[in-house]
Amino acid sequence: MLIKFTINGEPMDVEVTGRELLLDMIRERLQLTGTKRGCENGECGACTVLVDGVPVNSCIYPAARADGKEIMTVEGLGSADDLHPLQKAFVREGALQCGFCGAGILLTAKALLAKNPDPSEQEIRLAISGHLCRCSGYVKMIRAIKAAAREMRGEVSE
Ligand code: FES
Ligand code: FES
Repeated sequence: MLIKFTINGEPMDVEVTGRELLLDMIRERLQLTGTKRGCENGECGACTVLVDGVPVNSCIYPAARADGKEIMTVEGLGSADDLHPLQKAFVREGALQCGFCGAGILLTAKALLAKNPDPSEQEIRLAISGHLCRCSGYVKMIRAIKAAAREMRGEVSE
């Protein structure tokens, strides 16, 4: 079937099969490889993208369901020249090690801050609880998300 959607603001028409998963469409057809393939079972969060602003595990999300939706991948969050405040804060805090979990966590954090600009540590922990990071203890990520939230509220400059 032909589906129409936007990805990172760009309108797209793609012919997908009924069984195709959003993760495969994003990584293999669209070559947006910032979205990672981890467990492929909806359990690690590595494949998280935003669909209409809501984090979804793209490894278990049928591509056909993206018809008419707005998708954001990490490539749409910021660029090397123009990092999103979350990305800048993750860099400043040294919040990632191997980085494999990063794209998914950044997008989940973006969705969290869109609905709650001043989350508590508990709220951040709950929001990112579906993301498995094998390297870090999450502490620096939480600090980075709080720092980005402050910056996005205009309370601190870079
Ligand atoms: S790869 Fe999708 S949740 Fe793990
Ligand atoms: S930084 Fe390696 S999995 Fe999170």
